[in-house]
Amino acid sequence: MSGGFSLSDALPTSNNPNPSAPPPHGWPSWGNQPPVPGGFPAYPGPPGAYPGSPAAPGTYPGAYPAAPGMYPGAPGPYPGAPGPYPGGPAGPGPYSAPGQPPSGPGFGPPPPQGGPAPPMKVPFELPLQAGLVPRLLITITGTVNSNPNRFSLDFKRGNDIAFHFNPRFKEDNRKVIVCNSMFQNNWGKEERTAPRFPFEAGKPFKLQILCEGDHFKVAVNDAHLLQYSFREKKLNEITKLCIAGDITLTSVVPTMI
Ligand code: GAL
Repeated sequence: MSGGFSLSDALPTSNNPNPSAPPPHGWPSWGNQPPVPGGFPAYPGPPGAYPGSPAAPGTYPGAYPAAPGMYPGAPGPYPGAPGPYPGGPAGPGPYSAPGQPPSGPGFGPPPPQGGPAPPMKVPFELPLQAGLVPRLLITITGTVNSNPNRFSLDFKRGNDIAFHFNPRFKEDNRKVIVCNSMFQNNWGKEERTAPRFPFEAGKPFKLQILCEGDHFKVAVNDAHLLQYSFREKKLNEITKLCIAGDITLTSVVPTMI
């Protein structure tokens, strides 16, 4: 963890302790990513509803009356969730996005006075009521099971899978990450371009998916891993994230950056 970039380094409203960090356009803190042909896409920034107010850096730039830092699709993120995100201060950790993660049983770190959070059920489904939107960051923490075969994230539009992210631990005795989309029950062409396989049996991980203007970026343990160009363009109709397979989940936290 130490020495890694903080997400907050990349954020316009954060107190950036690293003066040499690149400016907060796009996603510069994932500095190990390969150059994108044509340069880093200049994301024009959120629409007018995104207030410049430092009090609300994480507010979803839409019509929802979201609390600061809150993604409007987030309330009721899993069965038995304690309710809407508490609007507490940003967490101290290097991975804290502005707008702070929610906390509570099964969703983010346990409350200070509580015991260990109960494990989150897998498969897990996170409703994204407003669909995807550029700058939506989903941070997933968990632990890979011992002797894993595979796990997957599926961003779904109805039955279609806009983005399937699928680490496989033993495909012909190799480890590979497969990305794909499924439309009308047909899988498309697999992308197997991840330059490394950052997951290990029995080890905890942090997996982040950032929705950008025309692609997803995926980082694991604070290092960029891959990107996946949108095949499904109706972002607002991608309203579910399903997580399944050989992992246990600790937290799943959507935030706006
Ligand atoms: C299939 C597999 C699916 C999905 C897909 C991705 O072979 O059964 O679960 O991973 O590949 O292309």
